[in-house]
Amino acid sequence: QLNGGATIVVLGASGDLAKKKTYPAIFKLFKNGFLPEKTHIVGYARTKMTHEEYIQRISQYIKVPDNEAAKKQLNDFLAITSYQSGQYDQDEGFQNLETYISKFETDSGFAEGNRHRIFYMALPPSVFIPVAKGIKKNTYSANSINRLVVEKPFGMDSESSDHLARELGALFSEDEIYRIDHYLGKEMVKNLMTLRFANVFFGQIWDRRNIENVQITFKEPFGTEGRGGYFDEFGIIRDVMQNHLLQVLSLIAMERPISTDAEAIRDEKVKVLRCIPPIQLEHALLGQYVGDGEKPGYLEDDSLKNKESVTPTFAALSLFIENERWEGVPFILKAGKALDQAKVEIRIQFKNVAGNLYKNTPRNELVLRVQPSEAVYVKMNNKHPGLSFQTIQSEMDLTYNRRYSEMSIPDAYEALILDVLRGDHSNFVRDDELDAAWKIFTPLLHKIDNDKIQPKPYKYGSRGPEELDQFIEKYGYDRTGSQ
Ligand code: BG6
Repeated sequence: QLNGGATIVVLGASGDLAKKKTYPAIFKLFKNGFLPEKTHIVGYARTKMTHEEYIQRISQYIKVPDNEAAKKQLNDFLAITSYQSGQYDQDEGFQNLETYISKFETDSGFAEGNRHRIFYMALPPSVFIPVAKGIKKNTYSANSINRLVVEKPFGMDSESSDHLARELGALFSEDEIYRIDHYLGKEMVKNLMTLRFANVFFGQIWDRRNIENVQITFKEPFGTEGRGGYFDEFGIIRDVMQNHLLQVLSLIAMERPISTDAEAIRDEKVKVLRCIPPIQLEHALLGQYVGDGEKPGYLEDDSLKNKESVTPTFAALSLFIENERWEGVPFILKAGKALDQAKVEIRIQFKNVAGNLYKNTPRNELVLRVQPSEAVYVKMNNKHPGLSFQTIQSEMDLTYNRRYSEMSIPDAYEALILDVLRGDHSNFVRDDELDAAWKIFTPLLHKIDNDKIQPKPYKYGSRGPEELDQFIEKYGYDRTGSQ
C-alpha cells in the first residue's frame, strides 16, 4: 500500500471503458489493499446523474461473490466514490471538481508531497485536448503530484499524433503523462523481458542465426457489432497492430536494457522501432469479413454508416528489422475480428537443424500464449518412446493454471493503474516510441485510405482470407509442426 492519499478522477465515467475496465480494475486494487490509505474516486462526465444512478452504472460490471463479506467490500468501495457532472470544454465543471478535490485533500489532512491526483481520461479522442486544457487550467495542483492517464487512439497517423503530442506536451510534462497500451499490462507480455534476460539459453539463441521467423497473432471470434462507427474510421491496423502488437514486437526484438528502469527499457524499445522501415503494401494482406449465413458481415453492421466501406477487419503484415540481430528475419503480425477463435500468441520459429540425422523433423518453436490461459511452451523433437527410432514432436509445457494454480493473474488494467499510482512508467508508451511506431505504419495506412485498397473477403468464424497460409509461407513459416 502506498502512503498518503490519492484522488482518482475518472473522466468519461459514464462511458463503456470506464464501466467495463477502469472501475472494476480500481475495485480490485481496493479489494487487495493496493490503493493508498486514503483514496477518493471521482467520476466526471457530461451526463447528469444522481449518486444512485451513478453507483448503479459503475457497479454493473463489478462482480462480487454472493456473500456478506464481499458485499460489504463492494459497499466500502462505493462509499469512496462520487460523481460530478460537467462539460468537457468549459471551465465551470473543472472548477467544481477542483473545489471538491481540494476539500477532500484538506479534510483528509494529506501532507504535501503525498497527495496524488490521477486524471484518468477514458474519453473519445475528440475531447482529449479540451479536457487536458480544462484540467491544467482549473484542477492541476502545484502542491500535489499530478498524473494524466491517456487511452488510445493517439491520433490516426504520424501527423495527427504529433499534433496531439504537441498539445498535450504544452500542458503536461512527459513525466506526468501515462499513455496506456493495455497489452503492456498483460502478464505474458510482462514476462517477455524475464524470459529473455533471466534465462541463459534464450539469450543465446535470440537472433537471426537461430530464428527463422516470428509471428504475433491476435484473433477475436466476434465482429465489430455495435462499434462499427468507431472501427470504420480506424480499421484493424490502427486498432490493435500499430499499438498492441507492435509493443509486443518491440519487447521481443529490443536489445538488453542497461537496467530494469523505465527509461532504460523505453530507450531500447525506441531504438529497435527506429530500425524498422515503413511497411510496404506488398508485405500486407488485408481482409474484411462477410456473413456466414447466421452472423452478419462487417458491411451489414447496423452501426456502420458507409455500406461500401473497404476498412480492413483483418490484416497480416510482415515487418523487417534492419539491424545486426534481426536482418532478414520476418516478423509477421496477424490480427483479425470475427475469426475462428479467441487467441493472442507469439510464435518464434527456429531454423532447421543443420546436418539433421533425422528425417522430416519439424522446426522447434517457442510459443507464448498471451490469452486465453497463459502458457509458455517449446515444441521439440523427442525420440518416440518404445522400440522405435522415430521422432515425435512434443511440448515442454508451462501452462500457468496448472503450474501456478494458487496464484492469481491480475487484469491488465489493474496492473497498469497500480503502476500509475506508484509512478512507474515502464509499461507505458513514451512520446518518441509513439512517434517511431506511427512512422512504420503511416505510409501504408495512407496508401490503404487513399487508394481504397479492396480487402479480401473472409467468412465470419473462419481463419481469415484464404490467401493467409500462402502469405505466411512466403515469409518462411513452416507449418509442418504447427497446430
Ligand atoms: C482494444 C481494441 O484496444 O483491444 C479492441 O480497441 C480489442 O478492438 C481489444 O477488442 C482487445 O483487448 P483484449 O484485452 O480483449 O485482448
